[in-house]
Amino acid sequence: MPIIVHADERLFHLMTPGSSYAFRVREDGLLEHLYWGARMEDALDLLRVARAARRLDPRPDHLRATDVGSLRLEYPSYGTGDHRDPAYDVLQPSGSHASQLVYASHRIQPGKPRLPGLPAFYVESDFEADTLEITLVDPVLSLQVVLSYTVYRDFDLLCRHARFENAGTGTLVLRRALSASVDLDLREADFIQLSGAWIRERFIERVPLGPGRHEIMSRAGISGHKHSPFFALAAPNATEDRGEVRAFALVYSGNFVGACEMEPMRQNVRAQIGIHPADFSWRLGPGETFVTPEAALVYSDEGWGGMSRTFHRAIRRRLCQGPYRDRVRPVLINNWEATYFDFHEDDLVEIARQARDLGVELFVLDDGWFGQRDDDSTSLGDWRPHPRKLPHGLRHLADQIHGLGMQFGIWMEPEMVSPKSKLYEEHPDWCLHVPDRPRSERRHQLMLDLTREDVRAFVVDAVSRVIEEGAVDYVKWDMNRPMTEVGSAALPPERQRETAHRYVLGLYEILETLTSRFPHVLFENCASGGGRFDLGMLHYMPQTWTSDNTDAVARLKIQHGTSLVFPPVTMGAHVSAVPNHQMGRVTPFALRAGVAMCGNFGFELDVRRFSDEERREARQAVERYKAVRELVQFGDFYRLLSPFEGHEAAWMFVAADRSEALVAYFCTYPDPMEPPRRLALRGLAPDGRYVAEPFAECFRGDTLMRSGLVIPRQTGDGQAVFIHLKQIREEGDGP
Ligand code: DGJ
Repeated sequence: MPIIVHADERLFHLMTPGSSYAFRVREDGLLEHLYWGARMEDALDLLRVARAARRLDPRPDHLRATDVGSLRLEYPSYGTGDHRDPAYDVLQPSGSHASQLVYASHRIQPGKPRLPGLPAFYVESDFEADTLEITLVDPVLSLQVVLSYTVYRDFDLLCRHARFENAGTGTLVLRRALSASVDLDLREADFIQLSGAWIRERFIERVPLGPGRHEIMSRAGISGHKHSPFFALAAPNATEDRGEVRAFALVYSGNFVGACEMEPMRQNVRAQIGIHPADFSWRLGPGETFVTPEAALVYSDEGWGGMSRTFHRAIRRRLCQGPYRDRVRPVLINNWEATYFDFHEDDLVEIARQARDLGVELFVLDDGWFGQRDDDSTSLGDWRPHPRKLPHGLRHLADQIHGLGMQFGIWMEPEMVSPKSKLYEEHPDWCLHVPDRPRSERRHQLMLDLTREDVRAFVVDAVSRVIEEGAVDYVKWDMNRPMTEVGSAALPPERQRETAHRYVLGLYEILETLTSRFPHVLFENCASGGGRFDLGMLHYMPQTWTSDNTDAVARLKIQHGTSLVFPPVTMGAHVSAVPNHQMGRVTPFALRAGVAMCGNFGFELDVRRFSDEERREARQAVERYKAVRELVQFGDFYRLLSPFEGHEAAWMFVAADRSEALVAYFCTYPDPMEPPRRLALRGLAPDGRYVAEPFAECFRGDTLMRSGLVIPRQTGDGQAVFIHLKQIREEGDGP
């Protein structure tokens, strides 16, 4: 049983294969957090430990008895003496914000209920997980809060969210409703976060926590380029492979906060994640409910490598959905960096034809195919083929692509409207805006108001028509601006602060409708590159354009950082031209192809300009990728060398049954007389024997993991070396 209840002690013990999470109901009804760490078979001793800690507390009795502010709590309230940040804040008809939640009841159910209108991890059978729901009440307010905890049998993953129910007669206004709050017994920890910017997404930052508060956030209306909705608390001695790591990620695509507050005496760390309260409020009328997004908590005592593999497996198997979840992804070519806005149907067909000859399987037509769009200043919302560029329409182009034996994909930016468009002329109120204020444009565009049902219907209809008319197999769903004046003409004044969250809910409703209507279509998420790479979007779209930066050297860091949470199959990675369009850097083809082959592989350049040599290299890269793509896309991922620590990087992909593995080694610029690089491999069967191509030599798994594999360095900048390991069966090994 993954959830054990000790009824007399009112103690709840939740277990995953490698972790335990425990809390209890105190005598006064508050939920006290006891433990989150390596798995324990019996949690009752935790009570004795807690009692001893209280007994030995050096403070005088009267201080200890009244000090709610130093308790370790599960979902802390505001206004009753805890001066740390609360998990929720509710404005009452009286004007007060004070609240206190106490235990009322609990229930356990097999499986995991879906979250209404929100993306979430799921189960395919009730056997896979158990869910504990704790009902808390604030009797003064008639407010009920149900805390939901799901533990999986196969992953060290705990999912939490909260559901608020107004059981009274007056309207309550939620000003803060976080998804998870945990007070951890940690005296030292490093806060690991993924931070960056456009063309520099998800660089790994590690900050030692000290007394006070450290937080990451987005207030841009989308999860954004600045920080990912994820953080991990690592023991100071933790590494890639060893040590304790506790991670928090939010299954959400809008404003968020992830924060830790360490107390001055370093006795507790309050870790919280949820919707950012600054641009949020929610009116809860009598009988109404509000559900927070889901927080995914992962524990690992195998460093952040173990943490990543748990995220990867759970995301691949129980967050992503649809037929493509388990299907190998096609090798694609995208015309954006080849042509930008300047193309004609004939160019596209020729690019596709030449790419097909290289083994490419999917042609993607990017921005510029609709309305009067010859640059980025017009036509978003007018989703009709550009008369000059596509004179025979979308279906004619699609037919030619399909005629080549390729799939046809198309770019759209459905959440947007250009002020220069027919759509805007007809519906100037359909964008997010605030009356009497300027409508700030970003990239000459405004955001459609997805809180509105009529606008959502328009978006669903527009995308459906394009998919149907163009017989489309793949949609690249782009989104290229943050929110500015956050307001909706359709909401009353008292609900204006609900706009940002309602927008995200509207988007999820649209995506749910479209992905259910067109299950055969592969959707790729994009937001000026990786500006909305989050667990919420991955629930609907199983891959994301990782970054607009296609430079191979920059990509090493971007893909390495991204892999902290997201599996390689979710990362779009393309070979582009040199000099690179973002960095101006010239790198060898082998490096560009090698780095792209460690993700969801494709091309983004004009194949018509290839030299014979490049054509040969490209054909070979596609062939190689196809031979290993199951391993890359569905294997376990290990980081061996970090590009953040030097001029090398190495990654490894291992089949679930450990019968096969791929080692990828990159050196951006070798130093003179560097000794050979020996790489200690990971994840192999210790007693298995592996043939290492291209050496044609045979090694035991434990030798490769302990002593290591020596990588043959070459001369020259930008080296990429791939070694494919295959386990051999000895005579007598069975069938
Ligand atoms: C931003 C995306 O990240 C790019 O890949 C490209 O699709 C452009 N938008 C097109 O405008």
